[in-house]
Amino acid sequence: MKHWYDHAIIYQIYPKSFQDSNNDGIGDLNGIRKRIPYLKKLGINAVWLNPVFVSPQVDNGYDVSNYFAIDSHMGTMQDMENLIHDLHQAGIHVIMDFVLNHTSDQHPWFQDAIKDPNSIYRDYYIFAGHDNQRPNNWGSFFGGSVWQADPANTGQFYFHLFDKRMPDLNWKNPEVRHAMLEVAEYWLKKGIDGLRLDAFIHIAKADLRQSYPTKNNSSKPVVAEPFFANLPQVQEWLRPFCERIKQDYPECLLLGEAASANVNLAVDYTTKRNHLMDSVITFRYFTEKDDDVNKDFPANYQPKQLDMTAFKQNQTVWQQTLAGISRPVLYWGNHDMARLRTRVAKNNVEAESLAMLMYLQRGIPIIYYGEELGLQNLKFDKVEQFNDKTVKDFVQAAQDAGLSYEDAVEMASQTHKLPARGPMPWNNEQYHGFSSVTPWLDGEKRDQACVVEEENNLESVLNFYKKMIALKKEPLFQDGNYYMLATDEKSYIYQRKLGDEEAIVAVSLSSEKEQVTIPTVFNNELLKAGQYNLNNGNLTLMPYAGVVLKKQSKE
Ligand code: GLC
Ligand code: CA
Repeated sequence: MKHWYDHAIIYQIYPKSFQDSNNDGIGDLNGIRKRIPYLKKLGINAVWLNPVFVSPQVDNGYDVSNYFAIDSHMGTMQDMENLIHDLHQAGIHVIMDFVLNHTSDQHPWFQDAIKDPNSIYRDYYIFAGHDNQRPNNWGSFFGGSVWQADPANTGQFYFHLFDKRMPDLNWKNPEVRHAMLEVAEYWLKKGIDGLRLDAFIHIAKADLRQSYPTKNNSSKPVVAEPFFANLPQVQEWLRPFCERIKQDYPECLLLGEAASANVNLAVDYTTKRNHLMDSVITFRYFTEKDDDVNKDFPANYQPKQLDMTAFKQNQTVWQQTLAGISRPVLYWGNHDMARLRTRVAKNNVEAESLAMLMYLQRGIPIIYYGEELGLQNLKFDKVEQFNDKTVKDFVQAAQDAGLSYEDAVEMASQTHKLPARGPMPWNNEQYHGFSSVTPWLDGEKRDQACVVEEENNLESVLNFYKKMIALKKEPLFQDGNYYMLATDEKSYIYQRKLGDEEAIVAVSLSSEKEQVTIPTVFNNELLKAGQYNLNNGNLTLMPYAGVVLKKQSKE
């Protein structure tokens, strides 16, 4: 059966940073609505909105205190309904973020659970330990222990994989599974077209009595992934959930965030016979080199180069293994990582070439807002701007190792997720047409990227993305099979084939002029980034240039 999402081209919108409509410095739903013509011109056919539910905003909306209402900063339920309606009118599908692993500590369930240890909501969360002794040494993704003392002073602790104000739900409890299904169906009934299942791989936890073995048996918390990621119960508990959704809403795209999933788990999560998800987003595509890392202080926020060989290996493996199973997700960035143009691409030509090689592979593109402009991470100059203890620790350690404060903060600015969530630049006015007041996330813009100027410049990254998206819609790039042609470090060349149609995508990964040989029949240019020269199968690519060449049809 054909589904709309087989050919989805998704644009990820971070609602707080896209467009402010009421000038409070925070992007909102009416702002997005105002920009529908832009989305339509870009050519995408779906948007994924990061969470817009009621939230104390400890983690910018991933801490939900009411799943059935819209956060007042974002707008109202009526605004959301209008947005869904207008996006649909424009032929754009709507995917909402669905935060199922945890709630906010302000959620009434959790409030009830800590007010009354006999509350039925106690078992909606994970309470363990006794006499103020933590059950184990597991560490949180956001630093420190996963265990936080029960505010009710029972001597127990509650479990949180992320911030301590984001307690994990207890999916072992059938009531929780039922309640979360109700939330999902509530939104699907409003007409949305897909759910991005946030951090779903973490809903099952191993036996809480086991500490993670460490070298010196210290009680220092360790991020014990194997104890809380991809356990078999994840599939067991989500299967009825996904089956039910597909039964009621067969056109609902189920897109799972599976950060640490390898390709075999991706097969498990997306093969039809398992009745789980349609596609998963893995973080495994991007392996970084540690050649440039200064060993005198922690590596976490030091800029690193992408390991292109590992990247190429990963891509081939994912393309091959998922062929006939499901569609890989294709992306270069999201709200949890530094922007493509800051993290990998040294200039706009390279950014375009990397986009070309990624998105014309087989799979579902997810383009992170602003990426289509060549937008970079914001520049922060104070450690406080990150609002993150791990950055504070990093900068301190770097300074202790002899770095200046400015250099250490700059490293974090280039690598941290928060500066990748900057306001969308629409024009060249103050605050770039995003708002008429200082945006919620204030940092210095590093680049010239802005919509109005790029719209008027045929050579802009924006115009490149429009052409690339149009090309992606062709059946050859949607359904054609895929194989990698070049295996060296300096180029990325693959072929797509569908029936008689064939094309080659050839990109240089080198800072020097590159020569490659391709079959002479590929001589019909469909798209290019930078400059190249083609002479009888001899392809010369200028630094970081790329080209898509189609096979000349017979006659
Ligand atoms: C996901 C989100 C991330 C969030 C976390 C907790 O990984 O992408 O932004 O912090 O889940 O909800
Ligand atoms: Ca606003």
